[in-house]
Amino acid sequence: MNWSGTKTLVTGGASFIGSHLVDALVARGATVRVADDLSSGKLENLHKSIGDVEFMEGDLRDRAFADKATAGREVVFHLAASHGGRGYIDTHPVECSTNMILDGSVFHSAWRAGVERVAFSSSACVYPTNLQDELQIEKGGMVYLREDWADPFKPGAALADGEYGWAKLMGEMALRAYHKQYGMKCVSCRYFTAYGERENETHAVIALIAKAFVGMDPYEIWGTGEQDRNFTYVGDIVEGSIRALECIEDGSAVNVGTAEHIKVIDAARKIFEITGWEPDEIFFDLDKPVGVFSRAADLTRSRDRLGWEPNISFEDGLRRTIDWYYSTRNREEVARKLNILLTER
Ligand SMILES: NC(=O)c1ccc[n+]([C@@H]2O[C@H](COP(=O)([O-])OP(=O)(O)OC[C@H]3O[C@@H](n4cnc5c(N)ncnc54)[C@H](O)[C@@H]3O)[C@@H](O)[C@H]2O)c1
Repeated sequence: MNWSGTKTLVTGGASFIGSHLVDALVARGATVRVADDLSSGKLENLHKSIGDVEFMEGDLRDRAFADKATAGREVVFHLAASHGGRGYIDTHPVECSTNMILDGSVFHSAWRAGVERVAFSSSACVYPTNLQDELQIEKGGMVYLREDWADPFKPGAALADGEYGWAKLMGEMALRAYHKQYGMKCVSCRYFTAYGERENETHAVIALIAKAFVGMDPYEIWGTGEQDRNFTYVGDIVEGSIRALECIEDGSAVNVGTAEHIKVIDAARKIFEITGWEPDEIFFDLDKPVGVFSRAADLTRSRDRLGWEPNISFEDGLRRTIDWYYSTRNREEVARKLNILLTER
């Protein structure tokens, strides 16, 4: 796709992932508008691109605002959501369930505005949780989640991860309806456990880095540490999203994440190695929320339909993220606020 001058809207563009996407689209020459209510997004995330974008502040659940934001746009990346890491989504089910209103509002306005293509930021949380639990892994070995395993129309293929996961699955279904009924070109991008610069401490990798940064000892890990995720660097998430919007138009979902299972304890050990600091003791807090036992993506569809797969190694992405965190944060402040930072965005 030739992005030069393409009139693009990024909802939630002041967020962690949204702001990196905005930077990438501006670099490609797109004409970018950002709509965000700044509930968790920050203008400072847009410091690289703010001079080159149009910024609109407002709540996209408000239909009049959603109409204004989508007016005159050719392309929409819909990232706005009430969302955070496990510490946030498990303690804010009401906020997460309102995403169904938000998504419905944005899709309807985009369709009325005649937007040509919509990419929706969905999540690995749409996958049935029973496919990712410990028993399943013990029985059948490592699981790589395939797109057709989460589908509201397939018997047995819908058991999403909490209110947040169900809202994303319903968002995908609603978006696909606009394709079925009106032919709107669209795609749902299922992001897996993103990390990188500008992310907050409610997410595992940043939480683990923050605890090392303040020298927490005993060093606290939520759960046994044996749970694994396919931590995916934000630059890969952004490239996958752009490719998905360019290549898929029938409302299908595509995984945007790696196929690498990394245990939380191994992520922590890697952080100790890179930072050169390690605690005398690790405390595994079994009372904290941890989510599913194991999660990674099958890449068959992203390879076939996007001609793409993530390519930034965990080691490289982690080094960049640690450099950013250590150079932008104040130790005393993080130590003082850490308990709140782990659950509030
Ligand atoms: N970070 C991850 O690992 C991950 C994984 C899967 C999916 N996602 C999805 O990616 C998207 C971006 O997430 P993120 O991690 O960058 O950070 P985020 O959750 O902070 O991003 C959400 C953005 O939407 C804005 N927003 C929220 N409600 C709004 C509303 N009603 N009107 C207007 N703006 C609103 C927030 O201010 C914020 O900028 C979200 O849709 C999220 O669900 C993220």
